[in-house]
Amino acid sequence: MKDLKIIITGYEAAPFYKRGGLGDVMESLPKALVGIGVEARVVIPYYNDIKEKYHFGKVGEFAVSFGLKTEHLGIYSSVLPNTKVLFYFLQNRKYLSLSRAKNKTKRMVQFAFFDLAVVSFINYLGKNHKWHPTVIHCNDWHTALIPLILKKMGLKISTILTIHNLLYQGRGSLKVLDLLDIKDQEAKALKRGMPASEMNVLGEGIIHATRVSTVSPSYAKEIAQTKHDHNPISPFLIEREHEGLGKYGKIIGILNGIDYDVWDPAKDELIFHKFDINSWKVGKKDNKDDLLKSLGLENRPTFCFVGRMATQKGLGILIETIKRIAHLNINLIILGSGDLRIEANVLKMAEKFPWVKTELLYSEELAHKIYAGSDFIVIPSRYEPCGLIQMIAMRYGTIPIASKTGGLKDSIANGKNGLLFQKGKSIRLKKAIRHALNIQKDSVRYEKMVERAMRTDFSWKKSAVLYKKLYEDMIKSTLTSTSV
Ligand code: GLC
Repeated sequence: MKDLKIIITGYEAAPFYKRGGLGDVMESLPKALVGIGVEARVVIPYYNDIKEKYHFGKVGEFAVSFGLKTEHLGIYSSVLPNTKVLFYFLQNRKYLSLSRAKNKTKRMVQFAFFDLAVVSFINYLGKNHKWHPTVIHCNDWHTALIPLILKKMGLKISTILTIHNLLYQGRGSLKVLDLLDIKDQEAKALKRGMPASEMNVLGEGIIHATRVSTVSPSYAKEIAQTKHDHNPISPFLIEREHEGLGKYGKIIGILNGIDYDVWDPAKDELIFHKFDINSWKVGKKDNKDDLLKSLGLENRPTFCFVGRMATQKGLGILIETIKRIAHLNINLIILGSGDLRIEANVLKMAEKFPWVKTELLYSEELAHKIYAGSDFIVIPSRYEPCGLIQMIAMRYGTIPIASKTGGLKDSIANGKNGLLFQKGKSIRLKKAIRHALNIQKDSVRYEKMVERAMRTDFSWKKSAVLYKKLYEDMIKSTLTSTSV
């Protein structure tokens, strides 16, 4: 069999540039793959934000023709700190400088350009370095045009598209295809259910990628079975699941892991007191004391919420619940930023109830301290493709109380290492919070639960092996079929 040589590409990768969970995965998955002997390299844009911070060395250049103009690209490179993972950053002043292009159209054009650049870069690697990737691993809509561009160029390389969040699809004008010199007809399937002049980039990827996956088995089932309102690509997902490409056509769900080098309470420099499974009782108590002191809260059972202020994260349900639990004598710490309207509502709650403390900002340091010092973490997501914070919290001995959906359902065993409640129902969340308080009063039961949570294996080891198998299967099926 051909050697496994994988290019992983997407919008962001920690620690270089991170906005959300995708950034974590783009760092920890390649690291885990290289750890089990797979040659995985990563390609992302060289945004100004990265350039100004890191000043990487230029290792080459190439050009592409985009919208009848020639655009030059610089190749910059580095290894991921403390690993052997090779990262490439593609630079182009016009299209790839900004990490947040101003509007939807600009973002569509920007990533159509990036996708073309990645495909040309693959050619460059082959010609100049004799390095021929066997699989291109695309992530989310930003890199979902790569399978189509590869086909158009007649390059038979297997592709996998991983969906981290179906909400973001890259919908916009078909004109993007002109820039790539792709005829409408080549993408005509997309027009189904869309206004004639529009396209859907993620849908394009779902149709053309060799395999489609997502970040948990449950979310894979959810998106392949439910017809989502206003979701023009749900028919493609359902088709892929049911009539797709036989055995491997269906949507594959592989649960993400977390990086155990980063998330380890025994080594974490950002928390007040380090601890492990043997010292957690004292360790968590000391962390909690310092956390509560620093926030001006009294010593009470402490719940937290950490995350983006977005509708997806279920803050509406949390706010509803706050009103219902005012008599419970607890603390609630809310950390995160995002939607201004949601932020304002959260703030109102904090002003009304002194036991609710909110920090409307994104702070990695405070997040670590909150994971270490809270008793429970509330995760009321409306849907959750995977979710990483429940895994992190559990490693820090903080019990998750989460909606029974997607990756939350797949990573939490109800009543054993956390609690699950029916999503979307604040009355159920209230019940789960009361249940959690009862468990905490029963110290034997509570301690067992914390220890089970801390022992649950969320390292990348298992999932990296699953990805490796998947890549191998993809190559096998490419060798036995004529088209990719
Ligand atoms: C997105 C999803 C989240 C997932 C992350 C990484 O942010 O919303 O559930 O954990 O991607 O895959």
